[in-house]
Amino acid sequence: MARLALNWGLLISGVVMIGTGVVAYWWGISQMGLHIWSGFVFAVFAFIHTVLNISHLLRWPRYTPWGRLVRWQPPRGARWRVAHPSRRSFLRGLIVGAAGMFAAMTLSALSVFGRSRTTEEADLGRAYHRWSSVTLQGVLWGALPWGQPQEPFKTYPNAPRVALPRPAPMTMPLTEAMNRRRSLRDYREGHISQEALSALLHAAQGITEPSYPKRAVPSAGALYPIEVYVSVQRVENLSPGLYHYAVREHALEYLKADVRRPLTVACLDQEHVATAAAVFILTAIFQRERWKYKGRAYRYILMEAGHVGQNIYLAATALGLGACAIGAFYDDMLNELLGVDGDEEAALYVLTVGILR
Ligand SMILES: Cc1cc2nc3c(=O)[nH]c(=O)nc-3n(C[C@H](O)[C@H](O)[C@H](O)COP(=O)(O)O)c2cc1C
Repeated sequence: MARLALNWGLLISGVVMIGTGVVAYWWGISQMGLHIWSGFVFAVFAFIHTVLNISHLLRWPRYTPWGRLVRWQPPRGARWRVAHPSRRSFLRGLIVGAAGMFAAMTLSALSVFGRSRTTEEADLGRAYHRWSSVTLQGVLWGALPWGQPQEPFKTYPNAPRVALPRPAPMTMPLTEAMNRRRSLRDYREGHISQEALSALLHAAQGITEPSYPKRAVPSAGALYPIEVYVSVQRVENLSPGLYHYAVREHALEYLKADVRRPLTVACLDQEHVATAAAVFILTAIFQRERWKYKGRAYRYILMEAGHVGQNIYLAATALGLGACAIGAFYDDMLNELLGVDGDEEAALYVLTVGILR
């Protein structure tokens, strides 16, 4: 029974470890709690397994070289038997496998079942990119707007409001900030000032020309589809919680208490989300840009999120803080946490900012 539990434990933790490792690799995540913990659990199981089977390991050298190894016998007293293929059946398996591969390759080269689309060709992004290309016909026929224009300001009228102080000054030369900027994730405990938070929010969406009003980031048609939410985690004299940035008033609107834990989980357990002083979550309200730019709007919206992200990176660098972008998150979980529907408004990009070790 114990041995069965051990084997299942090994198998499951191994699969989780490999799975999360592959996810971390593909999504470019360098710190993932789930992966690290499954690694520890696997190591413990592997250690117990090794201790229980130490007698096998000690006998092992006697069964080399190859000829003796395939005639391996379970150690005396063992109650279970391991199936070992004979050399002939092993060879048969190899031949059958190779023949199967050869048959599949030949059939596909001869297009016997018709040519199936490669995943690359089936990529929706590729289809969208083509579909949203500007063409002369599109320009001529696409004069009618898609739906109604919308105000570029979202507010939560019933939310308690927190006025932000003047942004902290940033004196680092731009070239230095660009050269120093890195994705930094190793944060220590400690609080950033409200002035620093104010400077980061100003860099993200702050109004820089009140008469129009224009903002610190460019926006196609000055339609400003990006909204900024911030999970305040370690900011001086500010309760931890989820806030929305009220652009016009340069203020925060308090939405809910501390979301550190669910936010970290929504970001695939990336540890720098939990240790950051503040986590910025960028969403888009698509209709703000869609009515004018129609099918092309989605392209512009992603470009604009990139502008905001880079401004946050540079501002954090100039303030002597670390920042790291996050593109890997569970969309539905994050949208639900923010209280947005994921359709009219959806999360696009997350950035952590923290005090460096
Ligand atoms: C769109 C985008 C998504 C990213 N997603 C993650 C992420 O989920 N987790 C993470 O640790 N880093 C993420 N990064 C940071 C990259 O890993 C990092 O930019 C890259 O390694 C280059 O290093 P540098 O930013 O220090 O120059 C992301 C970066 C971009 C631009």
